[in-house]
Amino acid sequence: RTRIIKVDPENPEDDKIGIAAEEIKKGNLVAFPTETVYGLGADALNEKAVRKIFEVKGRPADNPLIVHVSSVDQIYEIAQPNEIAKKLIDAFFPGPLTLVMKNKKVPKITTAGLDTVAVRMPDHKVALKLIELSETPIAAPSANKSGKPSPTKAEHVLEDLGNLVDVIIDGGETKIGLESTVVDTTVYPVEILRPGAITKEELEEYVDVKYAEDFSVAKSPGMKYKHYAPDAETIVLVGKNFLKKATQIAEDFVKKGYRVGVAGLNLEEKRNDVIYKNFGRNLEEMAKNLFKVLRELDKECDVIIVQGVEEKGIGKAIMNRLYKAGRVFRI
Ligand code: TXA
Ligand code: MG
Repeated sequence: RTRIIKVDPENPEDDKIGIAAEEIKKGNLVAFPTETVYGLGADALNEKAVRKIFEVKGRPADNPLIVHVSSVDQIYEIAQPNEIAKKLIDAFFPGPLTLVMKNKKVPKITTAGLDTVAVRMPDHKVALKLIELSETPIAAPSANKSGKPSPTKAEHVLEDLGNLVDVIIDGGETKIGLESTVVDTTVYPVEILRPGAITKEELEEYVDVKYAEDFSVAKSPGMKYKHYAPDAETIVLVGKNFLKKATQIAEDFVKKGYRVGVAGLNLEEKRNDVIYKNFGRNLEEMAKNLFKVLRELDKECDVIIVQGVEEKGIGKAIMNRLYKAGRVFRI
């Protein structure tokens, strides 16, 4: 049975987080909020505990986990940051940035046998307190079933993994809504393996950066898997007059008897036989609401038509997730 513990995200109560920390110490699974998405956590140094993560998520064993820390000292206990990594740690930790570095002592199951380890210090009071009270780094992938959109609310975790995790800490909706930027610091220029809220431009103020965009040779094992995919047929339209064109396409599908949803920025309702959902007013709001809206529409629709955005700033991360969610067309 899953225990759900509601906490105040701004001021998490020690005794409540302590209950979850005890579970981590026992080698059990705890889902917890971060500023990006909810994570499915276990003691990163306990092989048996980490194995449970892979089992519960249905995650391929060759896809390594991110190890979460609560202090800079803890980074040095598990990894060997080079000068470049140190610069980025100074500049961006805690925050939505994961650094791939040389591994020091994290077991192979956590790193999927690589000699590197991915490390992140979340900028979230609940996550930091959980790691601190657990007295160990916490390995945590996003707390969704493999192939589903990442969870941005405790209810999403319950939907996907209900009764498979020991504790879910409910700290409300996550702020950013997309997973962290993953950067490989063992090469130079450093490589963005997964775009996120920390953009290439921001990183470039400190180091030389390029996108690892050759997706055919997956450098980050996670790059080769289809992620974030709703069950519904998902169509992404990039270009002008989205509302008009999406509504035309929706009309064709409705005539054939399909249930259709349209999701975009600042949308107004055009037809009452189509479900319209708003991502919000700007790209930050879209990032925050993207996975939640896809999950909502997936429950009610056979076809989802999504507004694509310009691949600039956080738009790069949004489009990276949409490429994996469905088919992208220029209009
Ligand atoms: O925001 C986030 O990063 C969330 C929260 C919970 O922290 N976590 C998350 O984890 O998104 P996950 O497992 O869903 O994605 C981790 C990504 C995968 O694409 C994985 O392949 C990559 O990081 N990764 C992990 N270790 C790596 C390594 N040593 N080298 C290259 N890529 C690595
Ligand atoms: Mg994930």
